[in-house]
Amino acid sequence: MGAGKTTLGLQVAERLGRRFFDLDHEIEKGLGRAIPELFAERGEAAFRVIEAERTIDLLRSERPSVLALGGGAVETPKVRQALREHALCVFVEIEPDEAWERVRRSDRPLAQDPESFRALFERRRELYEASADARARDADGVVLAAGGVHVEVGALEHLGQLVPGEGRLALVADANVAGIYGPAAQVALGQRLASTHDLPEGERAKSLSAVERLWAELRLDRDGALVALGGGCTTDPVGFVAATYLRGVSWVAVPTTLVGQVDAAIGGKTGTNLEQGKNLVGAFHWPARTIIDPGVLETLAERQHREGLAEVVKTGLLVGAPLWELPLPELVRRCAAYKTAVCLRDPREAGERAVLNLGHTFAHALEVGSSNAISHGEAVALGLLAALRLSGLPEQVEVVERVLDPKPARADRERAWAALNRDKKRAAGKTRLVLLDEPGKPRYGVELPDEDVRRELDRLIAG
Ligand SMILES: NC(=O)c1ccc[n+]([C@@H]2O[C@H](COP(=O)([O-])OP(=O)(O)OC[C@H]3O[C@@H](n4cnc5c(N)ncnc54)[C@H](O)[C@@H]3O)[C@@H](O)[C@H]2O)c1
Ligand SMILES: [Zn+2]
Repeated sequence: MGAGKTTLGLQVAERLGRRFFDLDHEIEKGLGRAIPELFAERGEAAFRVIEAERTIDLLRSERPSVLALGGGAVETPKVRQALREHALCVFVEIEPDEAWERVRRSDRPLAQDPESFRALFERRRELYEASADARARDADGVVLAAGGVHVEVGALEHLGQLVPGEGRLALVADANVAGIYGPAAQVALGQRLASTHDLPEGERAKSLSAVERLWAELRLDRDGALVALGGGCTTDPVGFVAATYLRGVSWVAVPTTLVGQVDAAIGGKTGTNLEQGKNLVGAFHWPARTIIDPGVLETLAERQHREGLAEVVKTGLLVGAPLWELPLPELVRRCAAYKTAVCLRDPREAGERAVLNLGHTFAHALEVGSSNAISHGEAVALGLLAALRLSGLPEQVEVVERVLDPKPARADRERAWAALNRDKKRAAGKTRLVLLDEPGKPRYGVELPDEDVRRELDRLIAG
């Protein structure tokens, strides 16, 4: 009571594209009576029976929704059971004093004096904690919980408690990351750890030969899980191995790069490269949990940090807030929450997940045009410039120039244009772009005349 469940629930429902029900409101609507009246007329016991029925009905409904439970609903054992069976339950954390401040002037029957309110709060707290699958303080926190994403500085130290399930675990990392964080991860995983495996560093890990070696080395049962510790070049192929080994086992992503924490380890896209091109083989396979410890970013090289910063600026533009200015742990949390929400709304990339490609059509063209001489991050920074210029947002162009300072790419103009047009063919003869109506308001599938697109691509290329 007083935790702000209704406000939060509405925000979360909107961000996840789900329906929202506030249980108190549903009960009042159904009976045509306000809750204080119900309490006065029929007493608390009768109210709890009505509340439980309606709550369980909604929990059993087929379409996923966001429910804000009444503060006392968990006191009914049947409700607790339905929660276990049908819901991901998030405990909205709040201090009793703060909650009291919010409800003291309300007409809620159980919030009449501070002493009994606090006693009630303490009595229920245990039930809340026992029923909760996760805890959160704001909408980002609830979204992250819904996606199985845990963000916490120091999480690596108690990895064992955060990895769900009971089965044996196989830990996979590239040699570099294994050298820095392997020992700590092994200690934290303890008895459940069955084996450790090395991957080559960088894109070489995203190859069928590396994947095949992992398949051959693994000795997991169906209830086992892979733990991928590293950047996107680790989580991508390990997620793919998890999707395919024994026709699919569970996996846990522990991203250690900024790219991994704000992008690659979230959303369930896994895969590997072929000689014919990047990411041509893969599967959608959402990790059982993504465990993000922003503390490990301390050892990341400046160059790698900049790679991630380009995606952070992209995310800030999509959110409409300067996320890049936040302290690192909060920056990671906000970006991870944004990507989680978009991917939960569109898990198989049927539509709106395309917004995450802001700047990326140009970026891919530049990567091809430069034969990958420029990095993905540099290409994205340039791609954002083009997308923002075409969106008519000069102030945001300045932001990208100031924060990412992209330099025109040394690239072959014709090859870059040809690459951009290959993307175009895939989209039925039209160049489909992601643009911004304004910061925070992306639009995808936008068609523009060839000459405008070509002009903006050319501006990104040196000489
Ligand atoms: N699946 C997706 O949705 C998705 C999204 C974005 C990118 N990706 C993929 O991610 C890949 C790029 O990932 P990346 O940029 O994380 O590269 P990466 O995994 O190659 O890591 C970069 C380098 O940083 C080192 N490193 C990692 N963590 C470290 C740490 N904490 N301290 C010190 N060094 C550390 C690694 O050893 C490596 O040398 C690309 O292949 C891309 O296609 C996938
Ligand atoms: Zn990218």
